[in-house]
Amino acid sequence: MHEKEISLAVIQRLPRYYRYLGELLENDVVRISSKELSERMKVTASQIRQDLNNFGGFGQQGYGYNVEYLYTEIGKILGLDKCYNLIIIGAGNLGQALANYTDFERRGFYIRGIFDVNPRLEGISIRGTEIRMIDELEDFMKNNTVHIAALTIPKLKAPAIAKDLVRMGIKAIWNFAPTDLNLPGDVMVENVHLAESLMRLSYNLKALEENNDESDKN
Ligand code: NAI
Repeated sequence: MHEKEISLAVIQRLPRYYRYLGELLENDVVRISSKELSERMKVTASQIRQDLNNFGGFGQQGYGYNVEYLYTEIGKILGLDKCYNLIIIGAGNLGQALANYTDFERRGFYIRGIFDVNPRLEGISIRGTEIRMIDELEDFMKNNTVHIAALTIPKLKAPAIAKDLVRMGIKAIWNFAPTDLNLPGDVMVENVHLAESLMRLSYNLKALEENNDESDKN
């Protein structure tokens, strides 16, 4: 498998393939043609063939794709056959929502620790994981393997905590705080900003309204 040569655009499309294939599996679909998959996913069949050919072509002429095989292989490419330990920094609304979401475990992401500064939260258990105080973080990082830290703290606090985490050895940050973290190049940062996708919706709504106004005039 030559993962390094696969374009970022393809990698970004893989989770969606993975989700669709998972749904097909749940419905006991054994195989699917690129045409059928393309109709479901609203992506051209040629795009699907091109994307999946990157991995040595899972399809067979006249047979289509074996759903389970493709699902498993894409899962491997995405690293989902592995388990990752995750901690959450900030046990407020968003941190608790993430901790309460069970589906991450199905994908191999296990929440091992939740940290906050608010003493009123100390010891409260969220689906079996107790909220700890942030001053326990350093020891926790020494005694546990942590792959990913989710940052769900106020944006002004996020850069300093991120730096601390890097010093403690973290290599991947799932950043929900609306700020740029500017960390060393070997640290992966995945920013998740719901407000930005809302802004894209707002842009598209605005464009639609302007379009409608134009056609009303005509
Ligand atoms: P919240 O106020 O409910 O929770 C923040 C928590 O962080 C509090 O429990 C607070 O005690 C804790 N905290 C503060 N400083 C800390 C520190 N140094 N170390 C550890 N914990 C600390 O806020 P909410 O609504 O959960 O939002 C959290 C962050 O997520 C904010 O930065 C917010 O802007 C962001 N957010 C991002 C979204 C996104 O789409 N990326 C969506 C919603 C919120």
